[in-house]
Amino acid sequence: MDKVDEDDVVNPWEVATSSATGVDYDKLIKRFGSTKIDDALLQRIEKVTGKPVHHLLRRGKFFSQRDMHIILDLYEQKKPFYLYTGRGPSSDSMHMGHLIPFIFTKWLQDTFDVPLVIQLTDDEKYLWKDLTLEQANHMAFENAKDIIACGFDIEKTFIFSDLDFISNSPAFYRNMCRVQKLVTYNQVKGIFGFGDSDCIGKISFPAIQASPSFSSSFPEIFNGRSDIPCLIPCAIDQDPYFRMTRDVAPRMNCLKPALIHSTFFPALQGAQTKMSASDPTSSIFVTDSDKQIKDKINKYAFSGGGATVEEHKEKGGNCDVDVSFQYLTFFMEDDDRLEEIRKTYTSGELLTGFLKKELVEILQKLVGEHRQRRASLTDDVVKQFMTPRKLKFDYPPPTPPSEKKKKKKQKNSKAV
Ligand code: TRP
Repeated sequence: MDKVDEDDVVNPWEVATSSATGVDYDKLIKRFGSTKIDDALLQRIEKVTGKPVHHLLRRGKFFSQRDMHIILDLYEQKKPFYLYTGRGPSSDSMHMGHLIPFIFTKWLQDTFDVPLVIQLTDDEKYLWKDLTLEQANHMAFENAKDIIACGFDIEKTFIFSDLDFISNSPAFYRNMCRVQKLVTYNQVKGIFGFGDSDCIGKISFPAIQASPSFSSSFPEIFNGRSDIPCLIPCAIDQDPYFRMTRDVAPRMNCLKPALIHSTFFPALQGAQTKMSASDPTSSIFVTDSDKQIKDKINKYAFSGGGATVEEHKEKGGNCDVDVSFQYLTFFMEDDDRLEEIRKTYTSGELLTGFLKKELVEILQKLVGEHRQRRASLTDDVVKQFMTPRKLKFDYPPPTPPSEKKKKKKQKNSKAV
């Protein structure tokens, strides 16, 4: 299993560390074999897009990647790619941590102007949690609303529930079968830690999360093309699925998906765990009222400040463990203001109460806007997002195999 060292546990079902500053992400990169996002890559993204990078990239919240350079090469050459991300719907309401990958994915979609597929793994949650199929499917639909409320473009986005979509999608199911044939029980045991008493649904589930990485799974969108590359923004705990996907892709004659990984969003109580949707005091939910937001931050947000005002003024605050400060690094867009807060909090000049007040205002605004966008969504619009269909992008049909051979021959004869 993905045990990073003595203390850090990171896998799709569990994230835990005993360190107050959170998981050691540099170690995780080594362990997973991905690549750190460095300044050179950030500069390259700015150069090819002509835009400043998103603050989540600038501040290292998206910190690791696989094959991002290939995606940027394609973009420079005006060649297509698409985005794939997802969510396991385990509760009716999402918390701010759940929104991070979607907020960033929206930025990617706006910046690169590409199609996006979003997988809601209601089947996964049915298999892992104590839920009925109907409950899991209902949550997928409710979560879709929160995801849409992040501002995705209906002409560029397809959202699907596994339970609803897969049974009507021969192309998707064929890719699932291909993956299932190529991965042994031993391999999934090694990657995911499955044991003899895990149900067989869990053991074959990774094939379902792998399949959206291949454009041939969505003939409605890609016009039957199997050669459109995929970029997956996700939290780093999902990487095991995609290591497996990248391993089988060449043997399926498919392209390996590229990845861009985020760190975890800390629980209010501290960075030792990621937030849990089942513990209402561990997080700010997108459904929380202004008062709930204020009360939760004031009561539960772990403080890195001094125990008393005197102590704080004397010794200063510790931004590395202060959850309110950490939240500001996710949500405050203004770099200068953030730096000022960091400096004055560290020196002890700025008190915890003021830091929290600033955070509460930002969260109330964000959640309020989200609430409004969600409330104005009709079931009809949600259904449209969830209907398999062509998006606004056109793809010339694939070259039939016989043509491909001819072309190859021509090429070869030219070369001789
Ligand atoms: N397994 C993920 C979860 O539990 C959901 C998911 C499916 C996903 N496909 C994905 C997440 C692709 C990121 C990228 O949340």
